[in-house]
Amino acid sequence: MSAPHWHLLGAGAIGCLFAAALQRAGCGVTLLLREGSPPGERKVVIERDGGTEQLTLPVTTPAAEGGVTHLLVTTKAYDVAPAVAAVRHRLDEQSQVLLLANGMGFAGEVAREAPWLQLYQGTTTEGAWRIAPLHIRHAGRGTTRIGRSGVARPAPWFRCWRDGLPGCTWDPDIERALWLKLAINCAINPLTAVHRCANGDLTSRAALAAEVAHLCEEIAAISAAAGYPEAAQGIHGAVARVIAATAANRSSMLQDVLAGRRTEIDYITGHLLAVAARCGIEAPRNRALLAAVSGLGC
Ligand code: PAF
Repeated sequence: MSAPHWHLLGAGAIGCLFAAALQRAGCGVTLLLREGSPPGERKVVIERDGGTEQLTLPVTTPAAEGGVTHLLVTTKAYDVAPAVAAVRHRLDEQSQVLLLANGMGFAGEVAREAPWLQLYQGTTTEGAWRIAPLHIRHAGRGTTRIGRSGVARPAPWFRCWRDGLPGCTWDPDIERALWLKLAINCAINPLTAVHRCANGDLTSRAALAAEVAHLCEEIAAISAAAGYPEAAQGIHGAVARVIAATAANRSSMLQDVLAGRRTEIDYITGHLLAVAARCGIEAPRNRALLAAVSGLGC
């Protein structure tokens, strides 16, 4: 298979990082910017310790004409389904659509609107933040997992990801990886957003550490009932390791709150609670956090 051409929806920090990786692997990459953006080319700048990478990418808008064979979506969770809907007239049954956003639940929204799409999902721990539009800082290397429920063998296009992005693996059980990330986010992000604290405060402040432990108990019960026994058993340890590794960081949810942006709470704790309800489990502490974060702003 020759290197495919990817269209990217969501040119934030992670989107720019992956666009550069795909271009490095020999793929074409076109940015789909918001309607009204003039077509042409844009420069993307990626700063790292030890050097700056620059690339030039063609840009167009979702409403433009022309088929899209490979679509990467790295928007906020709540924008995934609307973003895919805006480009749906350019997709067909062969189009490969990779969703790489925080949280869970948006893949179901996309599939309900367009059940014929070939949907893949991913999760990443790459550390990147936006300095300015199309100008990012790649602060820390992480791992990226990509897969499709029930599909053991990597998709033909996965070679580009493996070649362009060190630490990228095909995960035949991607739902499990997504759930574990969701479970960890549920224990960290909402609490840091409500208390406006760094991740490390969740262990150094006793009251917050106790709250994390209670949340983990609820999350473990829901994980077990939902068919994720490893997540159920390992959640306390996994959360402690992530807090230790990111102690000085502000969680993505806290950053959204501080910037006055909508949070992804509906696709993080909201999704956890939807699964809990299906399993007949009460999760009062997570429910209280959903309400608290939902009341925080826009
Ligand atoms: O969403 C985030 O901020 C991150 O996933 C994590 C791991 C909770 C660390 O801040």
